Amino acid sequence: MPAELLDGKRIAQEIRGEVAERVKKLVARGVTPGLSVILVGDDAASAVYVAAKGKASEEVGIKSEKVRLPADTTQEDLLARIVALNADESVHGILVQFPLPKHIDAEQVILAIDPKKDVDCFHPVNVGKMLIGDRDGFLPCTPAGVQEMLKRAGVKTSGKHCVIVGRSNIVGKPMAALMMQPGENANCTVTVCHSGTKDLGAETRRADILIAATGKAGLITREMVKAGAVVVDVGMNRIPDASSKNGKRLVGDVDFDDVREIASLITPVPGGVGPMTIAMLLANTVRSAENSLR
Ligand code: GUN
Repeated sequence: MPAELLDGKRIAQEIRGEVAERVKKLVARGVTPGLSVILVGDDAASAVYVAAKGKASEEVGIKSEKVRLPADTTQEDLLARIVALNADESVHGILVQFPLPKHIDAEQVILAIDPKKDVDCFHPVNVGKMLIGDRDGFLPCTPAGVQEMLKRAGVKTSGKHCVIVGRSNIVGKPMAALMMQPGENANCTVTVCHSGTKDLGAETRRADILIAATGKAGLITREMVKAGAVVVDVGMNRIPDASSKNGKRLVGDVDFDDVREIASLITPVPGGVGPMTIAMLLANTVRSAENSLR
């Protein structure tokens, strides 16, 4: 029997409804949550993501400001913008969309963001808090979105073997940190695979929960998946498709049609992890605004 869909779009909608309620309570107390998203340059995919974040924010009542800067913006200019946003009390969340142009030192940019407004959880203070299990900081949107999706879909994680393919700072590493924590919606034995892994299939076949985040279209095939596994596809790859209007199609890292035949639950792309990432960004921004009242 083919796997059931892990419907990120539906779960994200549920979360957005809850976030909208929290926004109403904040507004009643005189605080409108504010999110500033900085986009440097004209990377087409980034522009799409930033637009989606802005639209989703407005829909739940978060005031969203898009700061669009030219590709030749200097590091000093960008840092000055961040310093100004740090000081602006109407801004509760700051997100600098990655990737940045090559002449900008991304690490310095991340360090410039006030950890209290770092709703992306890129700042080492928040990354460190996540790693030690201190829930006082923010959680990174995509890994937290995956964990929340598993929780709300009723997937039991405790004692399971979770295999993560990919070791990026944005997804793979924090995903591993979250799934290995003690607690009901984690407590997994975690394996992290990467380009240095000798026999990827041997590792992925041991997964009860398989999370793919490599950026390689169709990397995970049916032979690499254990029967009944839960498969989460974080990949967002644009591949050529002559039948589509813009000549491209969005696919994940998992060969969906094939793997669906053997998995028990699987996320689609699009409509799986992507909407969850945005929902968690909204939740983090509202939490930051709530924190401002403490
Ligand atoms: N680029 C790709 N994913 C992300 C993300 O989650 N946050 C930011 N800031 N940039 C990204």
